[in-house]
Amino acid sequence: MRSYHATSGGGIDGLTIREHADPRPGPGQVLVAVRAVSLSHRELMILRGDYVLPVKPDVVPVSDGAGEVVAIGPGVTAAKVGDRVTATLFPSWQDGPFGRKHLPQLGGSLDGMLTELALLEERALVPVPAHLSYEEAATLPCAAVTAWNALTGDGAPIGATVVTQGSGGVSLFALQLAKALGARVIATTSGPAKAERLLKLGADEVVDYRAAPEWPSRVRELTSGNGADRVVDVAGDLERSLAAVAIGGHVASVGFVSGDPSPLDPRAVFRSGASVHGIAVGSRAQFLDMNRVIETHRLRPLIDRVFPFDWAPDAYRYYASGAAFGKVVIAV
Ligand SMILES: NC(=O)c1ccc[n+]([C@@H]2O[C@H](COP(=O)([O-])OP(=O)(O)OC[C@H]3O[C@@H](n4cnc5c(N)ncnc54)[C@H](OP(=O)(O)O)[C@@H]3O)[C@@H](O)[C@H]2O)c1
Repeated sequence: MRSYHATSGGGIDGLTIREHADPRPGPGQVLVAVRAVSLSHRELMILRGDYVLPVKPDVVPVSDGAGEVVAIGPGVTAAKVGDRVTATLFPSWQDGPFGRKHLPQLGGSLDGMLTELALLEERALVPVPAHLSYEEAATLPCAAVTAWNALTGDGAPIGATVVTQGSGGVSLFALQLAKALGARVIATTSGPAKAERLLKLGADEVVDYRAAPEWPSRVRELTSGNGADRVVDVAGDLERSLAAVAIGGHVASVGFVSGDPSPLDPRAVFRSGASVHGIAVGSRAQFLDMNRVIETHRLRPLIDRVFPFDWAPDAYRYYASGAAFGKVVIAV
């Protein structure tokens, strides 16, 4: 079987592909024939060398994948040969709050999914929703679970109005899931073509954050001056997110994709009367809860393009170009 390998900071050109003997599952392990993987922002950070969590040398990269169970190890009861599965990004984070002991993650400190055969812990497995293909299911573990956690993970009601930022993987799932949960969505983006596509996907309002850098004022206008109940901040623009959120609302701090995280004035937090909580993807229990909503509403992840396994570096380059609207998938 063949696997890609990566080094933190090694860049896309540093990806290598190697042959290995087929692994055999040990106690509590499952062998999965990977059918598809998807790329998230973390995969670019790992190759750039600025990922926030530890990355082991020569790691098999990519946290997100889906495939078929082809062998099970001794004592495995939660899976059988033929099951369609994906895996949770932090295999040891089953439920409850995130902690230090949950840090090992697929495609970082543990080998990931950009491989023909992946050896996974039984407890990491999550069944693929029946209406989804492997390619669609491969988009869920990082982006979708993060969006779900940002919308529901603080235990507060999602609220009547949610702001999503841009049209990256997390934000498109946040839009789809927030609509399924009954919220009104105000999406920000960077141009009329993407605005059009976000409206088609179900956004109620779209604000161009380049044409209107003071987009929080527009959010206030659209919410009778109150502000949004929840902002899913992927940009790292916390001061603006706090200016857009209602008193008593919630800002989920997810990322800093703008590349220019704002220094945060503590007065902005105080003035907002809102709470800010940091997101670390989500637990396996949250993944399962989210899948129930995906199944009930028959939600389908948006895929921009599928590349063959042998072209994985091209998939990375295409994703890094920012041209995609929807997930970039590699079929294995
Ligand atoms: N905390 C966690 O557990 C967690 C999990 C997943 C991701 N993340 C982080 O969340 C962020 C998004 O991840 P992703 O995988 O969704 O990334 P992605 O797919 O690479 O997102 C790219 C999109 O971000 C949007 N964007 C760029 N600058 C922006 C700005 N200033 N304001 C608003 N939107 C902007 C652009 O949307 P438009 O083209 O529409 O402008 C772009 O298409 C990253 O920083 C990632 O590291 C964190």
